[in-house]
Amino acid sequence: MRLFLDTANIDHIRHGVKLGVITGVTTNPSLVSKEGKVDYKHLVQEICSIVPGPVSTEVLSQDVSGMVAEARQIATWAENVVVKIPASLEGVEATHQLAKENIKVNFTLCFSLNQALLGALAGAAFVSPFVGRLDDIGEHGMRLVKEIVEVFKKYPDSIKTQLIAASIRHPQHCIEAAEAGAQIATVPYQVLMQMIRHPLTDIGISRFLEDWHKVMGEGKSI
Ligand code: E4P
Repeated sequence: MRLFLDTANIDHIRHGVKLGVITGVTTNPSLVSKEGKVDYKHLVQEICSIVPGPVSTEVLSQDVSGMVAEARQIATWAENVVVKIPASLEGVEATHQLAKENIKVNFTLCFSLNQALLGALAGAAFVSPFVGRLDDIGEHGMRLVKEIVEVFKKYPDSIKTQLIAASIRHPQHCIEAAEAGAQIATVPYQVLMQMIRHPLTDIGISRFLEDWHKVMGEGKSI
């Protein structure tokens, strides 16, 4: 399983990559807007230069020709850029056109197995089921991840699309995405920070140091 960071914040991306656990990034118009009134192309190019793997960034058009035109432009920004196309009917057609041009698509805003299937069949490199947003309306977001993983697994010859578990809200989502067999989970920075924390680890570190210093003397290191 791989971990991506779901943010457009440069400091957070630098930190995640430095930790050695973040191999990709996903952004969306809301996340980019959080960074203020930025130069979109410049920001995406900077992210792409920091991150070793795919960086997904979204089109704004909703019609096929607009999406395709924007995607073609975005695809020239960096080698590792991936274009996010929404899971609409127009999005399916745009994905198909872009896949024929070898432009990598992340089929985003997926809320059903059928949407994920159509994205995969149209040639998307990634599909992104939004777990948290399904939970928000009383559905079981992770169940969708499991379903997609199971169905894609049945067709290894025809479906090469990877699943990105998205809209991750807490560390338990990461555990469940890993258990479900998601190839990737894209996590907010705050969730990444929460993933490493455990009170027993903090207590354990303090206790080891206390015991050491009691015998070896205060401030004595290795
Ligand atoms: C994924 O690609 C999206 O950017 C993201 O996960 C959306 O998450 P949200 O539902 O927390 O906005």
